[in-house]
Amino acid sequence: MKKYVLLLLSILMMLCFAAGCGGEKKDEGPKVLKVGTEATFPPFEFREKGSKELHGFDIDLINAIGKKLDMKVEILDMDFEALLPSVKRGNVNLVIAGVTITPERQKVVDMSDPYFQSGLSIVVNKGNTAIHKPEDLKGRAVAVQIETTGEEKAKKLTGDKVKSFKTNEEVFQALKEKTVEAVIIDKPVARYYIKKLALDAVIAGDSFEPEAYGIVTRRHAELTPRINKALAELKQSGEYDKIYEKWFGKETK
Ligand code: ARG
Repeated sequence: MKKYVLLLLSILMMLCFAAGCGGEKKDEGPKVLKVGTEATFPPFEFREKGSKELHGFDIDLINAIGKKLDMKVEILDMDFEALLPSVKRGNVNLVIAGVTITPERQKVVDMSDPYFQSGLSIVVNKGNTAIHKPEDLKGRAVAVQIETTGEEKAKKLTGDKVKSFKTNEEVFQALKEKTVEAVIIDKPVARYYIKKLALDAVIAGDSFEPEAYGIVTRRHAELTPRINKALAELKQSGEYDKIYEKWFGKETK
């Protein structure tokens, strides 16, 4: 009899174990980090021609951060103008998309510590001798991506001559087709488009004032300090530098 009771008990225990009774801690695996981006911004986030996969500095950086947080990174590619609203609504946990830290944006979302020093630049077709400095853009058609700091700058400089596009491919297409005279876009991205796509274009004059990129989270998100901590650790360990060199070589930071 005693034997049977013991047997029954052990069977029960085994069943219980298999079903995970009593354990609130079912093994869920790492939690998912939903990341929003806009992938026409090489070398920060982009697709190689014909490939579905996303590449870039931001993609490597957020994967490294995800690892530190023990979370599985899931990236969603969307329009640039949809990124901040998505983070505000909670459709994504964060956005990494070369987003410049600005006081206006900081009013509506959290932004991490700066993770990349950048700045805008003017791009013109080779042979265009009319444009050397920002003031030369007055009254000329300029292409930009919607809702970017480049758009804001172009509006100030040209008045109503700005042509805003959803993607940066369209922005550079407009320059190629000469429906605009110039593009305003972040300098590392301008360099990439000119070199890698062999555009007949050049960066005109000096860049504008420096801008710094930050990772965007919902306002007062508990995630923000964790991202900053992970970033600091990656900088400390040299992992950040490795990612930097992979995409920018030994260019100065
Ligand atoms: N740095 C600029 C901004 O914050 C442009 C960012 C564009 N990013 C992108 N993934 N398309 O407005």
